[in-house]
Amino acid sequence: MNKALMIDPTQCYKEAEQRAADYFAALVSHVREKDFIPILTQDFNAWKQQHIHQPSLFSIFSRKKKGPDSTDYHSYIQWMRYSGKLDPYLDRSISYLFMRDLGKDLNEKKTQKRVRQIVDDLKEKLTKDNAEQKSDFFSSDGLYRKAQEEGIPNTYIWLMEKLEMISTQIPEEMDADHAVRKLIKIIAGVLMHVREEMGDETPDIERAKRLDEAIRLGYAYGLTYPFIDDLLDAKILSQQEETQYSELIRTSLTTGVVPELGDWNGKNKEFITFVHSELREAFEYIKNHQQPSKMKSFFEEAYVFFQSQEVDRKKALSNPHYKNEELFIPVILKSFSSRSIIRSVLSAPEDEGFESRTFYYGIYNQLADDFADLFDDLQEGSVTPYTYYWKYHDERPDLINPFELYWSVISHLIHHVYRSDAKTREVILDRAINGLKRFKEKIGDTEYEKLMNLLTSDMPQFNSLIQKMVEKADDVDFFDKLLRDHMITNLKRDRQERETFIDTVEKVRLELNTILPLTEKDLDPSFHDHIVEAANYSLVGDGKRLRPVMAWMMGVEHYGLSPSEIEPLLKSLEYMHTASLILDDLPSQDNASIRRGRQTVHKVYNVATAELTSLFLTQKAIEEQTNLQEFHAKTVLQLIRYSSRVTAEMCKGQAMDLESKGKTLTLEQLNTMCFYKTGIGFEAALIMPAILAMVEEEEIQALKRFARHAGVAFQIKDDLLDVEGTSEQLGKPVGDDAQHMRSTFVTILGVEGAKQAMWDQYSQAMETIEQTPKNIPFLKHLLNYIIHRKK
Ligand code: IPE
Ligand code: IPE
Ligand code: MG
Ligand code: MG
Ligand code: MG
Repeated sequence: MNKALMIDPTQCYKEAEQRAADYFAALVSHVREKDFIPILTQDFNAWKQQHIHQPSLFSIFSRKKKGPDSTDYHSYIQWMRYSGKLDPYLDRSISYLFMRDLGKDLNEKKTQKRVRQIVDDLKEKLTKDNAEQKSDFFSSDGLYRKAQEEGIPNTYIWLMEKLEMISTQIPEEMDADHAVRKLIKIIAGVLMHVREEMGDETPDIERAKRLDEAIRLGYAYGLTYPFIDDLLDAKILSQQEETQYSELIRTSLTTGVVPELGDWNGKNKEFITFVHSELREAFEYIKNHQQPSKMKSFFEEAYVFFQSQEVDRKKALSNPHYKNEELFIPVILKSFSSRSIIRSVLSAPEDEGFESRTFYYGIYNQLADDFADLFDDLQEGSVTPYTYYWKYHDERPDLINPFELYWSVISHLIHHVYRSDAKTREVILDRAINGLKRFKEKIGDTEYEKLMNLLTSDMPQFNSLIQKMVEKADDVDFFDKLLRDHMITNLKRDRQERETFIDTVEKVRLELNTILPLTEKDLDPSFHDHIVEAANYSLVGDGKRLRPVMAWMMGVEHYGLSPSEIEPLLKSLEYMHTASLILDDLPSQDNASIRRGRQTVHKVYNVATAELTSLFLTQKAIEEQTNLQEFHAKTVLQLIRYSSRVTAEMCKGQAMDLESKGKTLTLEQLNTMCFYKTGIGFEAALIMPAILAMVEEEEIQALKRFARHAGVAFQIKDDLLDVEGTSEQLGKPVGDDAQHMRSTFVTILGVEGAKQAMWDQYSQAMETIEQTPKNIPFLKHLLNYIIHRKK
């Protein structure tokens, strides 16, 4: 079935190419004339006044001239503040972003005012963050609070679910952290754009609507990076899959409709099916938000963006015959279209200034990136102006040196596009020197020098000027780079900690499974009652063992108790919990027929046996606690007292739950009920090890505050899974709560309301972690596990 074309792909690509070719020809003539050298030499001479400081007598004697390592985000900002560098640092960073991402002219009064405003806000925020030490820009609770303030909590939750999905579905070869970071970056760029378009006067409701759209559009557009560009670059698709996939994208862009996936024979079928459905949803979202009059030009731009990347991707580094135009023109096209398309996606009004500045600007940025990635790209065999020059500069004297072209772009930008504006010169040269410094640090002095000698053989004098700047100039750092590094470090660390957490949970779960069943000694050989059998039947079902796992993490990992000495505690926690489930499932309570993937106890045996089994397990739990022989009797008594109270409170919670059937509880009542029926059991799992470890009351109180919110969040997730999960996955009935008119977060607040309540509990729990005297990293992962779990 051939769909009618919406655009003429050949024609629109040709037109775009022509414009890029003209620009390229102009740049080449500067490279040939080398006229950028005297111009930039002069620029650098002016620039260095602010960046090269003659060492004063004071600084010769003071040792800490350089400041802390920028890999330590918090101390770096702190140091900037105290050395008076924070203001210029933020100013140059925000100015740069306004130029790069928003296509603004720094010479305009309006832009200067906005930059100033943002710098001031940011300074205040960073100062506050630092005062509170632990929190920062990316803390998920902080961002949720911000989203609440802006009236877009649902959008935030939606995005978090998407990012979680992306980070778990992307195959290992593709680096999920990288994908997530890129998505966040693009969404941030789109948000920035919308905020600037909107100004401060927009009424709240309109503002919330536009921010919501910005995030969703940003995500939709941003997806094309991991799912189109990175996927095709990652070489995980077979040749045939790759062709089929490219064709799918091409058809979507030229017809305006994403075709069905159809038969997919390759080995990546599952992943591609996921990608296809996400991309289609994204595509439809963007399309539905386009003004009809802009639709065609949007698709043209998107096509040029895609095609210019395809052209580059198809090149082989082994081919020695590419012409300069073939190497550089796609670079101009993709770097320009990647930025301008954001305005198209947003249906922003035409802005010629933006258009032309962005057009000239793009290649500057792309060449800086290609330079930084030179060795990685070489390894992957990708053709960029740098890799190609690196390989063929000897045999192809006609090749344009990309480094010379890069400087000629800089000179062109400063003096033609931005009309010799001093601020622009300042910021662009800062960035250029910063890029070289970072690269040098990355690859080491020797390699760096070798590369520089190759790239600057025709301009040795200019090179020595640049290298002097690289070596001596200060104050060329950028906030976005700091954020980038910080974000990568955080994402990687979080992933690793999370994997360790999941591994530990799994390991402890398996161990618990072997010690939980009651043994022969509990059976009376002369009389075969069914109680022990029924207790074991329910214990060996497929439970998560979360409560004893939590106690293990606290007891063993955090307090350094030995696994064997707290084994009775672990057993008692699971016995108590299992007892509560047997009761909860009874016909007089929730009347459920499946639990832990098997029939409920009263179904297999009978109601009376179930009731007695539950009582039996509760008593066994206490008996186990009395086996905590390695601890002082007084401590154990304290634990038993606490434990008995918890069980009693849970009974009250369960009674509240049953009495509330059919009633519309308030949010507060829901929170209270869930705290008693579920939260308190969670609390016990954290507090009991703390009691055994005899910690200070202050820590107990902090843990209780945390447990309250984490436990309620766990129950809200349970309520959500009742409508969003499947029975196979959960091992218990779904859709039951509404049917039985139970009062849960979902039946009362609806799915979105319940999610907001869950995130609210999540944020409160996070905040309590930040206030906890001792850092217990596992609590954070526990919390994330609770809200993202599928079971
Ligand atoms: C179910 O608890 C009862 C609730 C408090 C929602 P779990 O979800 O921990 O159940 P198992 O132990 O894994 O079966
Ligand atoms: C159970 O809540 C609370 C208990 C402590 C037993 P639910 O009734 O929602 O638990 P499930 O969904 O049956 O596991
Ligand atoms: Mg119940
Ligand atoms: Mg139930
Ligand atoms: Mg439930």
